[in-house]
Amino acid sequence: MQEAAVLIRPEKLKEICASLLQAVSVSREDAETTADVTVCAELRGISSHGIARMPAYLKRIRMGLINARPEFKFYSKYGPIAVMDADNGLGQVAAFKAMEKAIALAGEAGVGLVGVRNSNHFGVAAYYAMQALPHDMIGIVITNASPAMAPFGGRKAFLGTNPMAVAIPGLGEDSIVVDMASSITARGKIRLCAAQGVELPAGWALDEEGNPTTDATKALKGTILPMGGPKGYALAVLIDLMAGMLTGGGYSVAIKELNDFSGPVNAGHLLMAIKIEAFMEAETFRRGVSDYIAALHEAPRAPSVQHIFAPGEIEQKLTRERLEKGIPLAKEQVDLLKKLAAEYGAAISLDF
Ligand SMILES: NC(=O)c1ccc[n+]([C@@H]2O[C@H](COP(=O)([O-])OP(=O)(O)OC[C@H]3O[C@@H](n4cnc5c(N)ncnc54)[C@H](O)[C@@H]3O)[C@@H](O)[C@H]2O)c1
Repeated sequence: MQEAAVLIRPEKLKEICASLLQAVSVSREDAETTADVTVCAELRGISSHGIARMPAYLKRIRMGLINARPEFKFYSKYGPIAVMDADNGLGQVAAFKAMEKAIALAGEAGVGLVGVRNSNHFGVAAYYAMQALPHDMIGIVITNASPAMAPFGGRKAFLGTNPMAVAIPGLGEDSIVVDMASSITARGKIRLCAAQGVELPAGWALDEEGNPTTDATKALKGTILPMGGPKGYALAVLIDLMAGMLTGGGYSVAIKELNDFSGPVNAGHLLMAIKIEAFMEAETFRRGVSDYIAALHEAPRAPSVQHIFAPGEIEQKLTRERLEKGIPLAKEQVDLLKKLAAEYGAAISLDF
């Protein structure tokens, strides 16, 4: 991360993002939802999926490649399962509403499963999985993304970095939140390295010819490697088929990259909520999860390791810290917000 130019209150950043979206005709409610997901990425330290994506969202909306005023339609043939047509609306709003629907279905049937087609890039997957936590439910979310990864052994992008997120509640604010791309890293992190002229760690990417590279610009033209070799590749295939093909969404090379303005993204998502009471008393389970986290913390550590973290704990700690102290924005990020405000005529004060 570059040196922080300024610390911004999360509410202020949310207001700025929402104003930018409203300036391109997104409704206040949808702008606030999208802004909340964007700020969540910055709070969790996933700046590759935060305000860095605003230029592409805004440009797409202005070009009519994302529908600013979508009408979501739900179809259901079987009780707890629904399919949502996102009408090419913002992925954040579609996924948020789809998870709300999954939670409502799980409230009645014990489990709710919603597939979303005709959608867009939705940012951090954890946001939607975590919607389930206050309902004593487990949230599971998968989405496909534009091709960035070759099939294992290949050299041409065929699969997205297709992430999955699972959120499991413990006592109080305790939780396990797994949120990960099926690639070794998210493509956004490579884009950030390219913008900052930073070399990539070895083992992250191949160049156009299929040779290993640590040059972020070459990596962006080539492909990202899967997480865990063939296992990450296998996971990406499963996610593409279930979030894309099964929902009636796009998949593989039919999905457009956010910065490819030749057509809609056409991503698909699959969101599930599981009611804990369907298995056991929620309180008992939550206590078990908290005890489990404590046991992870107390597990014998390898040399030079200070602390063993539960999945999601690093992001949760950072979120708490940033909610209290503010979100650090680099000069480039501040300049970006100023540029966007001027370009889209958003009525926002940037004195922070
Ligand atoms: N919308 C999209 O199309 C899309 C595509 C790809 C990725 N993403 C998002 O990008 C983000 C980053 O993905 P990523 O794969 O780079 O994540 P990551 O590698 O930073 O983290 C993956 C998981 O490992 C856990 N973890 C990391 N370090 C740990 C440690 N030391 N101890 C214990 N647990 C640890 C994290 O809590 C997280 O659950 C995610 O939010 C993902 O949803 C979105």
